[in-house]
Amino acid sequence: MKQLTQSQAWQVLQQHHHDIAPQHMREWFVHDKHRFANLSMHTNEILVDFSKQRVTPTTIQLLCELANQSYLYQRIEDMFAGESVNNTEKRAALHTALRNRSADQILVNGQDVMPDILASLDKLRHFTTQLHQQRWHGHTGLAITDVVNIGIGGSDLGPRMVTAALTSFRQPGIRCHFVANVDGTELTETLKPLNPATTLFVIASKTFTTLETLINAASAKRWLVNGLGNDRAIAKHFVAITANDVKALEFGIDDNNIFKFWDWVGGRFSLWSAIGLTIAISIGMDAFEHLLAGAYTMDKHFCSHDYRHNIPIVMALIDIWNINFFNWHSHAIIPYDHYLRWLPAYLQQAEMESNGKSMQRSGQAVNYATAPVIWGQPGSNSQHAFLQALLQGTQTVPVDFIVPLKSHNPLEQHHELLFASCLSQSNALMSGRTLKEATHELIATGMPPDDVQALAPHKVIPGNRPSTTLLLESITPTSLGELIALYEHKIFATSVIWNINAFDQWGVELSKQLANKILPDLTNPDKVPQFDASTNGLIRYFHQQHITDHPTR
Ligand code: F6P
Repeated sequence: MKQLTQSQAWQVLQQHHHDIAPQHMREWFVHDKHRFANLSMHTNEILVDFSKQRVTPTTIQLLCELANQSYLYQRIEDMFAGESVNNTEKRAALHTALRNRSADQILVNGQDVMPDILASLDKLRHFTTQLHQQRWHGHTGLAITDVVNIGIGGSDLGPRMVTAALTSFRQPGIRCHFVANVDGTELTETLKPLNPATTLFVIASKTFTTLETLINAASAKRWLVNGLGNDRAIAKHFVAITANDVKALEFGIDDNNIFKFWDWVGGRFSLWSAIGLTIAISIGMDAFEHLLAGAYTMDKHFCSHDYRHNIPIVMALIDIWNINFFNWHSHAIIPYDHYLRWLPAYLQQAEMESNGKSMQRSGQAVNYATAPVIWGQPGSNSQHAFLQALLQGTQTVPVDFIVPLKSHNPLEQHHELLFASCLSQSNALMSGRTLKEATHELIATGMPPDDVQALAPHKVIPGNRPSTTLLLESITPTSLGELIALYEHKIFATSVIWNINAFDQWGVELSKQLANKILPDLTNPDKVPQFDASTNGLIRYFHQQHITDHPTR
């Protein structure tokens, strides 16, 4: 199969890029009064304005040709139908089935998976109701007041991000906490204020072999048994969410307390499954089902709209335009809402672990860039941290601004200023400030001409820097479900055009293996490390410091 970069659509886009790259978006807005109307779209809950991207309607039309030649529609159908789109692990990727609100069958290896999915939701509902109605009692007979989710990666970031985002929907009586890092500090600080008698641990791990999670879970078990003086307490204070129930049973989790999910659910796409238990405990099962319904709405949009009017696909095509034609390899996510503060971290894993690949599905290396570096922080903090570099620095970084029209905490003028700040950033990035404008502004202040001439160049902002603004009515389970599914589908669509597998993560498996190799050398000073000189030197230094600190060793 021809490399993507030799395709007709790619070649035409290269010529188009050569033609329009020198143009400034300011001019496009002046000459096309319908630019905003033509380059924004909306679903039930979200307006997506990509008119501040370096595209014209012709660009979008030419990019749609890339989607066309990649048979994107067929691949979307394959994914929703349970085909083995995860070709290297020979698995389906059916996170969409988890939120399938229709009665349609979805077959995996000839078996309809919907009955098991609905049974899992029933189990979640039953358990969360027991907790909220205080009908689940700990070992000493007390109701649960605190839930600690122990997991990492997709077994942490999805539940953590959604629980934070939906703080306004939190049910009374139970506080949810998250521990992911194997650094003992996170677990120690989390457990400090908690009472073992009223604490429930949710061990979330698809494989139940992730070392960080197992070590945290073992320490949590020690804390609980020490606190309650009896290892029979585990049965009432530990539940597990996993696709590997054998390992969960070995750990000592009671069989009735295991919430199973399936290997065709990718970790970073799993919050819709039982991995979302802590979300359901935090906001209640009804709100959790609204989250699923929001995602389902976006699923239907993704499956039914033509490329040009398909929001995830247009966002994917714009990413490819920015990455592969403008060579911008960084992408900032700036949510203008404190409740969405974990969204950048969640999308970082979702996109970089999915599309951070350099092998095509065929095993042939790519000869084009793939996933950008995804990063970000909430606004308006971002304006006082890194916006300077985005506005006047030497790198162009496309930005997604995400902002709700309404705040859940409408203090006087706060939301108006937040919203104005968000719009001002995307405007400044796009329109910039010319030398003439900077000069006139300084003259108007009465500054002496020599000083104006010296300072004005430093106040020039190039502009022509791209951003997309996603406007939500407000942050609700439904709108959040739509937003997350939008990004999941955008990631999948780019992976199809790049002809890479978005659902495996062989690179990370290596770091897991290496950690297992280095650990024995760190814990055994007599072992001679057999790694590179740097790693060996660092291991030796670790031993020297530990011997100094613990001379008896
Ligand atoms: O980062 C690698 C990874 O496998 C992620 O894909 C996954 O979400 C995370 O580790 C945790 O894996 P598990 O849920 O199996 O503990």
